Amino acid sequence: MIKIHEVSKNFGPTNVIPSLSLQIPTGETHILLGSSGCGKTTILRMMAGLCKPDSGDVILANQNINTMSDLQISDSVGYVIQEGGLMPHLSAMNNILLPIKIRGQELTQATNRMYEFASAVELTTNQLARYPHELSGGQKQRVALIRGLILNQPIVLLDEPLSALDPVVRMNLQRHLKKLFDQLSKTVVLVTHDLNVASFLGDRISLLDQGRIVQQGRFEDLVNHPKNDFVRDFVRAQTPAAKACS
Ligand SMILES: Nc1ncnc2c1ncn2[C@@H]1O[C@H](COP(=O)(O)OP(=O)(O)OP(=O)(O)O)[C@@H](O)[C@H]1O
Ligand SMILES: [Mg+2]
Repeated sequence: MIKIHEVSKNFGPTNVIPSLSLQIPTGETHILLGSSGCGKTTILRMMAGLCKPDSGDVILANQNINTMSDLQISDSVGYVIQEGGLMPHLSAMNNILLPIKIRGQELTQATNRMYEFASAVELTTNQLARYPHELSGGQKQRVALIRGLILNQPIVLLDEPLSALDPVVRMNLQRHLKKLFDQLSKTVVLVTHDLNVASFLGDRISLLDQGRIVQQGRFEDLVNHPKNDFVRDFVRAQTPAAKACS
């Protein structure tokens, strides 16, 4: 479903992604894990067609992203950016329904879908009527998440979607997301720093360092068979998650 082939990216003189290849099959939830600045958001932006690689190819469902129109890309890919990206002058509900309205799609079905998702992520009707500045960070994140799912694209890119949530809400939301992704057979790429999120949601994990995949595999592979000291240290730094697995 998603194929990244020998992609490289420079910003000015700095090479951020040296040569990255990655294949994510349909229906997989793939985790991009790694420390701040290692290139996770840049990779998602390339998958969403928002950032052009200097070389190499990004292929979505057998089609090179270079040959796709903006509309084709946005019909294929839902993207929840790291900062949420909510419009400050629109209520949460109107933020969520904006992609539907822009496309002139039928609102009744989308509104029902919105309420279904809102209930799953524990957002009330009252909260949906508020403006972003009237919501907490975690509530805003959940609104952004619903907006990313509302068009029901086959590919969903999520950049740290759970980082502002308290552990209880995060755990509930993780459960809902897992169920949702399975039910809807979504292909998901999720960025996180958090090994707990990675282990719960990820079918496979790519652990990155300076734009390179250091190890790719299941969570258990990273914990029990770390390829090198970098992987071992990264896992050890988040011991409770590692202990839960061993
Ligand atoms: N438009 C840009 N111009 C210049 N440098 C950039 C640009 N976008 C990203 N970078 C740099 O590229 C590197 C990778 O950035 P990126 O946002 O992909 O990291 P990240 O892994 O998502 O980090 P974080 O976990 O902090 O969100 C960083 O050093 C960043 O400063
Ligand atoms: Mg980032």
